[in-house]
Amino acid sequence: MNSYTVATLLKETKLQEVHIKGWVRTFRANRFVALNDGSTLQNIQCVVDFEKTDEALLKRITTGAAVAITGNLVESQGKGQNVEITVTKIEILGDSDPETYPIQPKKHSFEFLRENAHLRTRTNTFSAVMRLRSALSFAVHKYFNDNGFYYMHTPIITGSDAEGAGEMFRVSTLDQKNPPLTEDGAIDHSKNFFGKDTNLTVSGQLEAETYAMSLGKVYTFGPTFRAENSNTSRHLAEFWMIEPEVAFMDLAGNMDLAEDFMKSVISYVLEHNKEDLEFLDQRLLDEEKVKPQAERSDLSLIEKLKFVTENNFKRVSYTEAIDILRNSKPNKKKKFNYIIEEWGADLQSEHERFLVEKHFKCPVILFDYPANIKAFYMRLNEDGKTVRAMDILFPGIGEIVGGSQREERLEVLKEKMAVLDIPEEELWWYLDLRKYGTAVHSGFGLGFERLVMFATGMTNIRDVIPYPRTPQNAEF
Ligand code: 4AD
Ligand code: MG
Repeated sequence: MNSYTVATLLKETKLQEVHIKGWVRTFRANRFVALNDGSTLQNIQCVVDFEKTDEALLKRITTGAAVAITGNLVESQGKGQNVEITVTKIEILGDSDPETYPIQPKKHSFEFLRENAHLRTRTNTFSAVMRLRSALSFAVHKYFNDNGFYYMHTPIITGSDAEGAGEMFRVSTLDQKNPPLTEDGAIDHSKNFFGKDTNLTVSGQLEAETYAMSLGKVYTFGPTFRAENSNTSRHLAEFWMIEPEVAFMDLAGNMDLAEDFMKSVISYVLEHNKEDLEFLDQRLLDEEKVKPQAERSDLSLIEKLKFVTENNFKRVSYTEAIDILRNSKPNKKKKFNYIIEEWGADLQSEHERFLVEKHFKCPVILFDYPANIKAFYMRLNEDGKTVRAMDILFPGIGEIVGGSQREERLEVLKEKMAVLDIPEEELWWYLDLRKYGTAVHSGFGLGFERLVMFATGMTNIRDVIPYPRTPQNAEF
């Protein structure tokens, strides 16, 4: 264990002998080591007396090397930090060949860093993003714990397709060279998982519903998998999802919960992660400067986060949204026509962005979607054509949350499953919930990486998860 971290040392006022371990960011003039240990963006300056240090040792103080330093904490002469270390002993724990070390002290492109995902958290941007990811994850658990929810672990390997969208990775224990075959010679997947057809979960919702109907308020927070071959900056094949589920709560309550939750976790990082946010804020400002005036954002990153915590989300029904889109002027410059002619069509991400970024200019909760574009489990409205669904749209992100009030009426649910060809035998346990003590209940799913994107201002989802799984990235 380090006796100190760089973060605690930089705040230390007692001038004393200290020990610290970390990685060399730079070594200047054979004298100044900038040392980082991941506890903060900042480096601590460690001053080496080169006249008293062996030359062979000096040569091994290179960018990326792991070192252990003993020295005296003294007031710093330079600007920027209060203290520095006068080194009495430096030990090289692990050398780093400067000729081949990929992370040089210069600006690297995100593409390059994605190829070096195992080392990219040695840069300021990625260490800041991942510290924020960790803080947000803690804030999620804190919110639910403070509000009386139980954390439940839903299975990763499952027989059910919660979303009914068929975007599942199959789990197989079959002998790939000699698989069992059906009568017509195809691989017999019914024998996949020790005799059953199973897949990686696309959502923990259905299992979470069963726990909500006994424990009242529960949430899941775990990995989910979608075998969609989409190469966008907002989709991953493996992502983390947060799914609360609450008994006796209707759609309006679900919207209140989602809004309060989002505001709470964002407030948490505004309060606890100032240093990293300020750094990312500045990074974005620098990026904005080179853009043409018209494309620059009105708000800085921190202002955007504050805006979300301080303003009500706008609640709009699908039907109202379609009216707004129909009456909006086509965007000639972008060669995109915002007009949707047909009630019942799914919104494209361009429509969502228009509503959030151009029309309402704030987070939007869209609700009461047409039944035919949403999942089978959503509560049918009295009009017989819309369901109590809600999507939350965020500026710069688009859909960040998807949720609904669930269909609690056995007969209506069975009918819906029959129309969609979902066999009752597969979901007998789910139907049981509607047979024994059914009640109104609701929940939602938040894509954790989309939240991290929003909170860090990163624009590619591959840059907010340690090892992104996409059709191109599964190496690490
Ligand atoms: O809208 P989705 O598919 O909803 C569900 O899975 C529900 N069962 C949730 C529930 O009600 N408990 O997914 C929820 C959210 C989306 O709004 C999006 O933020 C995220 O999960 N998401 C993805 N994030 C990254 N990559 C993908 N491929 C994603 N697909 C969905
Ligand atoms: Mg959705």
